[in-house]
Parts: sequence; structure tokens; C-alpha cells
Amino acid sequence: MKTAIYPGTFDPITLGHADIIRRAAKLTDKLVIGVTTNISKSPMFSPEERIAMVKREVSNLGENIEVVGFRSLLVDFARQQGANAIIRGLRNSTDFEYEYQMTGMNAQMASDIETIFLMSDVALQPISSSLVREIAKFGGDISKFVSASVKDDVLGKL
Ligand code: COA
Repeated sequence: MKTAIYPGTFDPITLGHADIIRRAAKLTDKLVIGVTTNISKSPMFSPEERIAMVKREVSNLGENIEVVGFRSLLVDFARQQGANAIIRGLRNSTDFEYEYQMTGMNAQMASDIETIFLMSDVALQPISSSLVREIAKFGGDISKFVSASVKDDVLGKL
């Protein structure tokens, strides 16, 4: 059975993430969404809140999707899950530079795990979680970027 990991902070999960998850789930037998906290970020939502939010948002995106929290190296988490691939979304050339470096370092640590990139849907390319939080803080409408439930979660935090 082929298992892939789609890791991220998901603070909060956006329509861009959901699009990648929907497409990635079709490419593999099992897709594990790894919810973690990037050490350079100070999330709005706790790990438990983000896991619950992601579980709710992916419940209708595919039968073969699991959501698991982790606090370790990504490659160690992938091994623990029996995964041989990491899926990442690419939105633009800035993502590419960041991903290129991470992929290179992950490959040095675990050459048996491949990183696979999916290009973001053109309409969803500008979305980022931090801009969603910023727009909401200033009273802007985030309904084009996140689901109605996530919008409620974000507004509930403010
Ligand atoms: N649609 C919309 N937004 C997207 C997106 C998509 N398809 N893909 C990424 N993003 C956005 C996110 O919203 C986020 O936006 P923000 O920075 O404004 O918050 C940004 O892109 C990147 O977020 P994410 O994909 O969640 O990654 P991350 O940078 O928070 O974390 C990990 C990346 C989890 C893969 C990395 O931190 C990791 O591997 N951690 C484990 C520790 C480890 O192994 N470290 C060594 C790595 S070599």
C-alpha cells in the first residue's frame, strides 16, 4: 500500500490546502495529513484546534485520508507512518526556493522518501494562512479563501 504525507501548520486550513488534499488523495492509497507547528511561527490556533479543524474540513475529500498531529522531524514522522512520499503544494517561485531547500535536506536524511509537488490551482495561488488571519483581523471578508466553518473559527478567535 502506498502512503503519502501532506504536512503543514494549517493555521488555518485554507481552500488552497483543501484543493491539494483532494487531488493528492487520488494519487495514493492512503494520505496522512501531518499537522505540526513550524518552529518559526506563532500560530493563532493550538495544535489540537488545528487537528480538529483539518479533520472536519477533509471529512468529505476522500475515504483514504487520515489526520495525525506530529512534533518531530518530518522524515521521522513519514517513516513512522510507513510513507514513502511527501506531498507539497507549490504556489509560486518563493515557495519553490523554500521547498527546494527543504526537499534537499529531507533527501539527505531519508533518500528513500520522495517529495512530490502539486501546482496550486491558479485561482487559489495567492492564498496564505497568515494573510487570511491578517485580513480577518482588519475586518476583511475571508470567505473566498476558507470554508464557512473555518471563517467562523477565525472570527471566533478575534
Ligand atoms: N494553498 C494555500 N496556502 C498554502 C498552500 C496551498 N496549496 N500551500 C502552502 N500554503 C501556505 C500556508 O498557508 C502557509 O502560509 P503562511 O506562511 O502564510 O502561514 C505557507 O504556505 C506554508 O505553510 P505550510 O505548507 O503549512 O508549511 P510550513 O512552512 O508551516 O511548515 C513543514 C512546513 C511542516 C513541512 C516543515 O516546517 C517541517 O517539515 N516541519 C517538521 C520539522 C522538520 O522536519 N524540519 C526540517 C525540514 S528540512
